[in-house]
Amino acid sequence: MLTTRQPVFRKFWHAVMPLSMLQDGKPQPFTLMDENIVLFLGADGQPAALKDRCCHRTAKLSKGRCVDGGLECGYHGWTYNAAGRVIRIPQYEPDRAIPADYCTPAYRCVARYGYAWVALEEPIAPIPEVPEFDAPGWRTIYQFYERWDTAPLRALENSFDNSHFSFVHRATFGVAAQPKPSRYELVHKDGGFYAETVIDATNPPAYHRVSGSTEPITQRHMRNAYYLPFSRRLDIEYPSGVRHVIINCFTPIDDGHIQLCQWLFRNDREVDCPEAMLVEFDAVITREDKDILESTDPDALVDTRRRGIEYSMDSDKPGMLIRKLLMELLSAHGEAEVHRG
Ligand code: FES
Ligand SMILES: [Fe+2]
Repeated sequence: MLTTRQPVFRKFWHAVMPLSMLQDGKPQPFTLMDENIVLFLGADGQPAALKDRCCHRTAKLSKGRCVDGGLECGYHGWTYNAAGRVIRIPQYEPDRAIPADYCTPAYRCVARYGYAWVALEEPIAPIPEVPEFDAPGWRTIYQFYERWDTAPLRALENSFDNSHFSFVHRATFGVAAQPKPSRYELVHKDGGFYAETVIDATNPPAYHRVSGSTEPITQRHMRNAYYLPFSRRLDIEYPSGVRHVIINCFTPIDDGHIQLCQWLFRNDREVDCPEAMLVEFDAVITREDKDILESTDPDALVDTRRRGIEYSMDSDKPGMLIRKLLMELLSAHGEAEVHRG
């Protein structure tokens, strides 16, 4: 599925950039669904997103600078407000009004969970709720903001696929002797589904503070939820009571690249398991996923052209369900699935 050929994905909020990247007064470029945009903090201190193209002589606005809550083009200094209107032209008479059509397109942009979220068109669904954010007893750890050479669907399939643990994660938590994963229970809910299972996980001493357990093999009670179109929430509960809640947004850059945005929420304290240890723990696992995912084809259909054994395998069902939900979304909006081949 070529993401950029599906206009309906423009009608969702996408996590685009940590707000911390906008704090130093420099505009930042991003490519969302093949559209070049620029982010900056507007006069109210809130993030704003504009098309990264000056209406004067087409320079990229991301090469400019932030001045008094506006975005000044680096070529001739025309300055835009958060709505995309030109509010200053240094070469023009200062007391004359600037016509309203001196502008560049502005996109919906809001701050949530420490990120700027952008919808290229009027959104048809809200940003997923994350009740742990800023909640008492929970801490937020901003883990990863990385560009990956893959597609959102490939990353989603992988996120719900327990059968890769014994192979891709053999060197970390995967139990090599148990290549057949335990059963997934799938529960449908509005705009997505929820998959639940309990798996065994290798728990070497280096992971004891992560799991809150000293057993050599521990259990992970996994509640894995999907949100249309490209987000998921993985709530891992250990027998110790420690919860390790990961939120992923696989933000589409173009048809072959995503921006991985990953938050972690934990119900323990820094003294129990330091943030640096948690980042490193998931970084190793994430690198294992990245390496195998970047070897896959971002476009090829894997599941729906075959009617083979995958359909009887529990571990492949969530990926197929994600595809089905995406197909239903596309057909509800009159769009067809498009492939390269
Ligand atoms: S191109 Fe932007 S001010 Fe001239
Ligand atoms: Fe994985």
